[in-house]
Amino acid sequence: MGQPLGWGRRQLMVRPDHFRIDYVINPFMSTQDQPDAELTMKQWDSLRQAIIDAGGEVDVLAQRPDSPDMVYAMNLGLATSDGRAMLSHMRFEPRRKESLTAGDWFVGHGFELRRTGSDGVGPHFESGDAFVFGDSLVVGYGPRTDADALKHLAAEWDIRVRGLRIAHEGMYHLDLPFCPIDSTHALVYPPAFDAASQAELAGIVPDPIVLTDEEAFAFSGNSVVVNETIIMPACSPRLREILTGLGLRVVLVDLSEFHKGGGSARCLTNPVDFDLTPAAFPGGEVVLPTA
Ligand code: ARG
Repeated sequence: MGQPLGWGRRQLMVRPDHFRIDYVINPFMSTQDQPDAELTMKQWDSLRQAIIDAGGEVDVLAQRPDSPDMVYAMNLGLATSDGRAMLSHMRFEPRRKESLTAGDWFVGHGFELRRTGSDGVGPHFESGDAFVFGDSLVVGYGPRTDADALKHLAAEWDIRVRGLRIAHEGMYHLDLPFCPIDSTHALVYPPAFDAASQAELAGIVPDPIVLTDEEAFAFSGNSVVVNETIIMPACSPRLREILTGLGLRVVLVDLSEFHKGGGSARCLTNPVDFDLTPAAFPGGEVVLPTA
């Protein structure tokens, strides 16, 4: 067993008052399959409660009526426990207004705000692609985040960034095939990455828990760890045995309405307490997979 994660106790969530499927930007979305408003709110509330029950703290942000995907708070920006935030610069135009409200929230809560670009100018960065793990900030790139954004992150914050190239249309953010569990374990779904990145991933994660296709597409990799609890939208008996064997308490939360937009527990929550002090992650360099 590794050391517990040093982050995840403070989560930002967006109340789903205006969650709809207005456009299609990932293979899960269909404008013919709209979420039920009442069930949506109930499911969101059980996720919020599960985080609080696990000892976490939840900050709630109101949803912009013009931004139906804003409920996926994980993508609003990458924030650190010492008060820095890198705002997302969304790949797709319909999500870009979310950054206006997110930026105000970060500044209003004392975060020093940076960005990789805005309004389509400069590299795209979506924070669902970034996690602190091991000796670096691990960032998925390809479908949403541009490789150039990694240089920006490394230089701006003087930290080591390791890139993984995502090469699967159903796994458009790193938080779908990769979920840190503790300092050495992570849930991983290797087919999400190109061959060189799969090799790189094996070097990054000492103790991988490899998800089956079925587990990955039930969003098991999109789980939230708070202290000794893992909050999951789905957990096979096999996975439950592994996770409880590591001393974790598995809590299941039904998030079916949010799967219609292509996101689950992790997507709905943004840990704004990543420990990313340059001293702990020195380098200012970008390590990309080599073929
Ligand atoms: N409909 C959203 C999008 O495609 C889903 C975002 C899922 N969020 C995540 N962190 N993976 O942008």
